[in-house]
Amino acid sequence: MKHLLGTDTLSREDAIRILDTAGQMAATQEREMRKLPTLRGKTVVNLFFEDSTRTRISFEAAAKRLSADVINFSAKGSSVSKGESLKDTALTLQAMGADAVVVRHWASGAADRLAHGGWLHGSVLNAGDGTHQHPTQALLDAYTLRRHLIDAPTGAGLDGLRIVIVGDILHSRVAASNLYLLHTLGAKVTFVAPPTLLPIGLSAHPDLEVFYTLDEALDAHDYDAIMMLRVQRERMTGGGSAFFPSPEEYTRLYGLDKGRMDRLPDHAIVLHPGPMNRGLEISAEAADSPRSVIVEQVSNGVAVRMAALYLLLAGEEASQ
Ligand code: CP
Repeated sequence: MKHLLGTDTLSREDAIRILDTAGQMAATQEREMRKLPTLRGKTVVNLFFEDSTRTRISFEAAAKRLSADVINFSAKGSSVSKGESLKDTALTLQAMGADAVVVRHWASGAADRLAHGGWLHGSVLNAGDGTHQHPTQALLDAYTLRRHLIDAPTGAGLDGLRIVIVGDILHSRVAASNLYLLHTLGAKVTFVAPPTLLPIGLSAHPDLEVFYTLDEALDAHDYDAIMMLRVQRERMTGGGSAFFPSPEEYTRLYGLDKGRMDRLPDHAIVLHPGPMNRGLEISAEAADSPRSVIVEQVSNGVAVRMAALYLLLAGEEASQ
């Protein structure tokens, strides 16, 4: 594997290898000396054309804990604002000797273009491209699900689990990446969204069940986990009014509150990729409840990104 661009092209074997390696990386982070020498001499560039808190910080932490040199590049304040193209930005990074480029971009397909444009020699890791994919988020979600819900996680998939993903699926690269990965790992996936926030392409996936209200979905099955998605108002022209009548109506039909959380089985967990709109798609009580693994998702993100960087940049050398 040279690049990590999406989960639709990730085999079950590769996905489980990343999750198992993340488990090993997480174990090293319990030690007093958390830094590993593995990527000493390698340069990782974080190339962010869109805002990020969790992904950018955790990729930086992951690369530094593997002893890589890290260059953080934000489009704001760079020559991108003077009109420099993705190609010329990539050529500049290549000239600086980037071994890996972690890219977040507002355009769907930008990571793929960087990987296959012939401008970079190193690996490309997609940190979220438009509404397309966010593979490391789906991997950290799978890692979190496996840790909580599978008895002997190492080497295992998510076979037999039933996961419901709720909210603004239309604009969610997280939902897309999760659908492919969860399916590859053997879980059953349900989407819940207003019809206006369900993309036709994704909702036609053969192994997907779809409901148009959360209560209907909760009536239909016992779920092992519920994943709430952020309402992405910045991607909705008109602030959301074209997609649902009002925030109150959205919360009434799709919001996770204590009443709905109490309808889940005792073992079920609550996930959210962040950032959250508290009071819109998730109540504070649900977000902060003992079932919530939202903060743990963030720490698991560091281990998963360490694993991805390790396998792409050192995996081949390590296995020789
Ligand atoms: N989950 C996620 O991608 O969060 P950030 O936008 O803060 O990176």
